[in-house]
Amino acid sequence: MGIDLGTCNTLVAVRGQGIVLNEPSVVAVRKGTNQVLMNGEAVGWRAKEMLGKTPGSISAIRPLKDGVISDFEITEAMLGYFIRKVNGKGRIFGPRVVISIPSGITAVEKQAVFQSAERAGARRTFLIEEPVAAAIGAGLPFAEPTASMIVDIGGGTTEVAIMSLADIATCESVRVAGDDMDEAIMNHMKRTYNMMIGEQTAERIKIEIGSASPLPQETTMEVRGRDMISGLPRKTVITSEEIREALLEPVQGISEAVTRTLERAEPELAADLVENGIMMAGGGSLLRGLTSVIQKATGLDTRLAEDPLTCVARGTAIYLEHLEEWKTTLENDMSA
Ligand SMILES: Nc1ncnc2c1ncn2[C@@H]1O[C@H](COP(=O)(O)OP(=O)(O)O)[C@@H](O)[C@H]1O
Ligand SMILES: [Mg+2]
Repeated sequence: MGIDLGTCNTLVAVRGQGIVLNEPSVVAVRKGTNQVLMNGEAVGWRAKEMLGKTPGSISAIRPLKDGVISDFEITEAMLGYFIRKVNGKGRIFGPRVVISIPSGITAVEKQAVFQSAERAGARRTFLIEEPVAAAIGAGLPFAEPTASMIVDIGGGTTEVAIMSLADIATCESVRVAGDDMDEAIMNHMKRTYNMMIGEQTAERIKIEIGSASPLPQETTMEVRGRDMISGLPRKTVITSEEIREALLEPVQGISEAVTRTLERAEPELAADLVENGIMMAGGGSLLRGLTSVIQKATGLDTRLAEDPLTCVARGTAIYLEHLEEWKTTLENDMSA
């Protein structure tokens, strides 16, 4: 099985079956502690569901939120739960597992992910870096002697990489991605309307009316929140123009990470990119008009991968099929 261990969502893809699991990378813990609820069963959708019902004593943790592992035990509980859920209980042989990990995580964190997978019953475990999996999932010719460029915008991190001959030539991981867009919208609502809104409302605003460049048809949306002065609930109407303005900073942060990576590329690889362009993946790349912002900033043809949210997971499953062919350069087999 191939696993996309994302900062927002974890997806599992199985050869011949496609995406078999797609859940939030969330674990419910007893509030104020790092104690995972119900022996590690309160993970993913179940963690989210429990939250709404017992808000007092339970809090949600996203153990990979910033692209680094904040708590090893919680990450292990999460990964183990997902692997067991997909693998079932009756199997004699554990599965071979390819896990894509944010490229910013340390050797110690990699080791922790590896051990979690082994403990959850994996027969063999391979780790690959997220931009590599994204490139494979997007169908880029990453193993060929020509440059491919991928920009994977997730929740916590944006990963930018230029690849050639099945190897990463230049890459950068920045902590500007979907979460920052949500935060920018929350700040805008506070500053402009004295209104507090929740993270989920901010995300909904982003998805419904958010954009990075002017829309053919600008829109409005009714938003509910809490007035910061009276403390009471109220509603207001916001426009797509003001949300675009609020998103300017994170959008620029992403765009700058892309141009910086290009500036560091070898001239020959940069030359290839004039032909090959840039591929965008990850949920954050779905923000309207973002591809055209990147296209303008770089002057390179910029496209959106097919189904950007499942791109990395599909890439890990494809990698598993080509293990023998690609592993010499990409393998990160901790047991070897
Ligand atoms: N249509 C959309 N427009 C803008 N952002 C989106 C859209 N759909 C999902 N997202 C954002 O994408 C991010 C999650 O993307 P994902 O690739 O799953 O992240 P990760 O790999 O870090 O788990 C979240 O910030 C989410 O709000
Ligand atoms: Mg991702």
